[in-house]
Amino acid sequence: MSQAILRTSRIQLVPLSDEHLEHEIELDGDPEVMRYLGDGRARTREEVEIFHRGRLAVANRVPGLGFWAGFVSGRFVGWWILEPPERADQGPAEGQAELGYRLLRRHWRRGLASEGARELIRHGFEDLGLTRIFAETMAVNTASRATMAAIGMQHIRTFHLEWDEPLPGSDLGEVEYAITRQQWLAHRAVGA
Ligand SMILES: CC(C)(COP(=O)(O)OP(=O)(O)OC[C@H]1O[C@@H](n2cnc3c(N)ncnc32)[C@H](O)[C@@H]1OP(=O)(O)O)[C@@H](O)C(=O)NCCC(=O)NCCS
Repeated sequence: MSQAILRTSRIQLVPLSDEHLEHEIELDGDPEVMRYLGDGRARTREEVEIFHRGRLAVANRVPGLGFWAGFVSGRFVGWWILEPPERADQGPAEGQAELGYRLLRRHWRRGLASEGARELIRHGFEDLGLTRIFAETMAVNTASRATMAAIGMQHIRTFHLEWDEPLPGSDLGEVEYAITRQQWLAHRAVGA
């Protein structure tokens, strides 16, 4: 199964492709966007080109999963991802995916990250048959945590990873949020 094209009331979500590289370069070139990611600084074009190839490769790992580029009225706003777990402590790859999102700063606080994420969760459970979707971020990444909570995910744990160059706030650890298929169905049944 190849990656689906998805739609919400405002966003068209299309599988990431080479056409989107310039948008990724703009996104990862903003230090505010990158504040809690990687080594916490803006990436160069050359660095993003390497990440871009890695992002495209995600779609080959598990059918249906991958990165989606999001467009509102034809304009790129950011990307969303569903990818299989990579670390042993994240649990089995079977039936699980990790959710992520990254938006251009000018599109923050308009409900777009949560709108796109809700559709990826629906797609994951309803169309791809996933049983659990989780997300991770630094404990200090307030915006990302608020987005996870807004879409019905619950805080599961706070944990610590070893970093070569820890970012400010990494002493407070990382957080995992998650929603199971059963929780999602229950939310939907009561119209939440
Ligand atoms: C995290 C991010 C995607 C959120 O995008 P967004 O489109 O602004 O989020 P939304 O508008 O959908 O907001 C979702 C919820 O989070 C809240 N929120 C968003 N940014 C917030 C902030 N800075 N502080 C507090 N709450 C915030 C919103 O109020 C909303 O909550 P509500 O539904 O209860 O009102 C965006 O800030 C971003 O791209 N950050 C940089 C990349 C990043 O850190 N990605 C996550 C990595 S794990």
